[in-house]
Amino acid sequence: MKKVLVATVKPFAPKAVEGIKKLVEEAGYEFSLLEKYSNQSELINGVSDANAMIIRSDKATREVLEAAKNLEIIVRAGAGYDNIDLATASENNIVVMNTPGQNSNAVAELAIGMMVFQARNQLNGKAGTELAGKTLGIHAFGNVGRYVAQIAKGFRMKVYAFDPFISKEQIEKEGVECVDTAEELYSKCQYISLHIPSNEKTKKSIGKNILSLMPENAVLVNTARKEVINEEELIELMQNKKDFTYISDIAPDCKDEIVEKFEGQYLFTPKKMGAQTAEANINAGVAGANQIINYFKNGDTTFKVN
Ligand code: 3PG
Repeated sequence: MKKVLVATVKPFAPKAVEGIKKLVEEAGYEFSLLEKYSNQSELINGVSDANAMIIRSDKATREVLEAAKNLEIIVRAGAGYDNIDLATASENNIVVMNTPGQNSNAVAELAIGMMVFQARNQLNGKAGTELAGKTLGIHAFGNVGRYVAQIAKGFRMKVYAFDPFISKEQIEKEGVECVDTAEELYSKCQYISLHIPSNEKTKKSIGKNILSLMPENAVLVNTARKEVINEEELIELMQNKKDFTYISDIAPDCKDEIVEKFEGQYLFTPKKMGAQTAEANINAGVAGANQIINYFKNGDTTFKVN
C-alpha cells in the first residue's frame, strides 16, 4: 500500500489534516502525519518509506530526498517551492508540484491587514493615516498580487502593477494600471507590495537603488520571501530615509538592528503567517492530497514544477 506522509513543522489547521486523511484513506493509501518536528532527522526518518509527501515550507534538501528511497511525488501545499531541492528531486525521478492560488487570499488579506495596522501606528492610540487615496504598487501580478489589488481597490487606493510575465491586457482587465518597469512602479507608489518568488535571479534583488526611488513616507510590504531583500542595503536606506517603513511577514535576519535603530518604522510577524488560516490550510492541503491521488491513479502532472 502506498504511504502518503504529511510533514509540517508549522502544522495545518486540524480540519485540513482531517480532510487530507479522509481523501488519502478513501483512495486506498496509508496516511501518516509528522507535525512540529524540531530536527531534520525526524523528517528524514518519516519520509524513508513514504511514496508521497505533502509539505509546507519544510526543507526538502538533498539529504532528505536521497533518504526517501520510495518517494515518487512531493506536493508543496502552497505557492513558493524555494524550499525544495528541485535538481535532486529530478535526479531521483521525484515529481514536485505546488498548489498555486490555494492560499493566495489569506496572504493578500494579511498584506493589507498589516498595512492598515501599521498606518494606524499599531493601534497605540496616536493619530495614524488612511489607505484611501494612497498609491500602491504590486510587484508581480500573480495570484496573491491580484487579490491584493482587488482588496486595495476596495480601500480606494490607486493601484499600479509591474510584472514582465503578465500582459498589460490581463493587468488592466483587473482595473489596475500597468507600468513598464519596476523603477517606474517604485517611483510612483508610496506603498509597494512584493510578490516575486525567491530564486537565484531575485534573491537580494530589492535594495537601495530601487527603494530610494519611492516617494515620501514609503512603505515596503513583503509577504513574499525575506531572501529577496538586500538587508545590508535596506539598513543603509532606512538610515538615509527616516520616513521609510518595512513591513515583513517573517522578521528579516537584520531584525535586531532594525528594532534598535528604527523605532515605529517596522512591523514583523514572529513566523511566516500569510497562509496561516484554516481556509488556506484546507484549500492547499486538500488540493495537495487530490493532486497526489490524481498522479498515482491517472498520471496527472498538472502543477508539476520540475
Ligand atoms: C507559500 O509560498 O505558499 C506561502 O509562503 C505559505 O507558506 P507556508 O505554507 O509555509 O506558510
